[in-house]
Amino acid sequence: MNNNRRDFLKKAGLLSSAAIALPSLNNQVFAAPNFNMAGFAAPKIDKVKVAIIGLGMRGPGAVDRISYIEGAEIVALCDKHADRVTKAQTILTKKGLKEAKAYSGEDGWKTMLKNEDLDLVYICTPWEYHAPMAIEAMKSGAHAATEVPIGLTISEIWEVVKTSEATKKHCMMLENCCYDFFEMLTLNMARQGMFGELVHAEGAYIHDLLDLNFNKNGYDNMWRLRENIKMNGNLYPTHGIGPIAQCLNINTGDRMTHLVAMQSNDFQMADKARELAAKDSFYQEFVGKKYRGNMDVTLIKTEKGKTMMIQHDVTSPRPYSRIHLLSGTKGFAQKYPQEGIAFGHSYIKPEELKGLYDKYTPELVKFIGEQAKQVGGHGGMDFMMDWRMIDCLRNGLPLDQSVYDGASWSAVVPLSVQSVAKNSRTVEVPDFTRGNWKTNKPHDMTLNGGGNTKIRAKVNGKNIQLDV
Ligand SMILES: NC(=O)c1ccc[n+]([C@@H]2O[C@H](COP(=O)([O-])OP(=O)(O)OC[C@H]3O[C@@H](n4cnc5c(N)ncnc54)[C@H](O)[C@@H]3O)[C@@H](O)[C@H]2O)c1
Repeated sequence: MNNNRRDFLKKAGLLSSAAIALPSLNNQVFAAPNFNMAGFAAPKIDKVKVAIIGLGMRGPGAVDRISYIEGAEIVALCDKHADRVTKAQTILTKKGLKEAKAYSGEDGWKTMLKNEDLDLVYICTPWEYHAPMAIEAMKSGAHAATEVPIGLTISEIWEVVKTSEATKKHCMMLENCCYDFFEMLTLNMARQGMFGELVHAEGAYIHDLLDLNFNKNGYDNMWRLRENIKMNGNLYPTHGIGPIAQCLNINTGDRMTHLVAMQSNDFQMADKARELAAKDSFYQEFVGKKYRGNMDVTLIKTEKGKTMMIQHDVTSPRPYSRIHLLSGTKGFAQKYPQEGIAFGHSYIKPEELKGLYDKYTPELVKFIGEQAKQVGGHGGMDFMMDWRMIDCLRNGLPLDQSVYDGASWSAVVPLSVQSVAKNSRTVEVPDFTRGNWKTNKPHDMTLNGGGNTKIRAKVNGKNIQLDV
């Protein structure tokens, strides 16, 4: 950088002694954060007052799960559609809990943030609302937890990060796949050095959503299909990247520096729109659109020389997979199509895998995994995530996923779009930690200082009260 430019940036307050990045489209913020949210422990909250926004297919599950957690009280429910709020109230009342305050309409959430004294705003709305709702929630004095991704553009993701730092409110992206059983096992094994130095990792979101995306009674106002017209990149990277990024200590010892994304053409969605429109004029507006290419492959390099490969395909008729592959100097793990661990040419035997589960299953899973399976939510991982988040808030512990994690994992959405648009050219990944990745510590996988949040109800007639 020439001196004139450096002087200009200094004067403009854009360059500090901790500045490490050269200016570029993806590195617009250079100053070190005034406050580092990684490892941040907010003051304890005895009873966490929760509001849930977005009560479509995903939100009511959150209402159900959180209503099992003692020490959390769902005080407000909000959806654009009033009838969805009314329906979600029954989840509470059937358990003998109080109805929550009801908010509806496009801007009902804004009124709710003004009226209510909230500790946690839990956001299950379409993607474009995640960042604005999380930002306003934090400004209103609540912690925010948002469904994936945390934001859709680099500038709004920066705003989420800076709002979290300025308000000292958590913004946790609800990356539930980090809490799945094999992912938790392999994270703990990676931390114990069982794979040696991790060199390469892969993740994916391969999920045949073609019919659901085109179902007029599916996503509200067909929002997910519309996103497939607006953006041509990896629209849903976080389920694949979250668990492997934790294993690679991204933001806590390493960081993603740059990526390239390559995208196939669309061979399915435009045809599907034409086929449906021939029978039903509702689909006419989706004909003749340019749809996102069916398969996106994104390659990411890290500062420490590791590689990651992330795939996204939600249209092809193929089995579900998040891949979850870890390749290290001493060992290997892969979750899909079948869980396997290897320390050489062949996978270990099932009884040896069971032995690893016995030895390396983290404390959280040992403590609540079975109850989580009973409460449910993708086989229990959703409940483990919710319970752990509430337990951390109640005990004043740092959350497992910092705002920097949600930000960097989500940034793959706009960055892959940028790379695809430039014929797969390299794009930089912003350092949302602004250098703090070097000293930030990975999250604590023990229950130290927590583990005292009880489950309040019976599930299917069985008492699953934790014995704590
Ligand atoms: N982590 C996971 O495993 C997982 C699984 C499914 C969905 N999701 C995520 O959850 C989110 C919601 O997905 P979904 O399947 O429930 O979609 P959906 O369309 O079924 O539900 C979205 C809800 O948000 C409401 N909404 C829209 N605008 C609103 C506004 N301004 N104010 C209040 N409410 C508003 C809609 O009315 C609808 O009820 C998405 O981000 C999705 O990606 C995550």
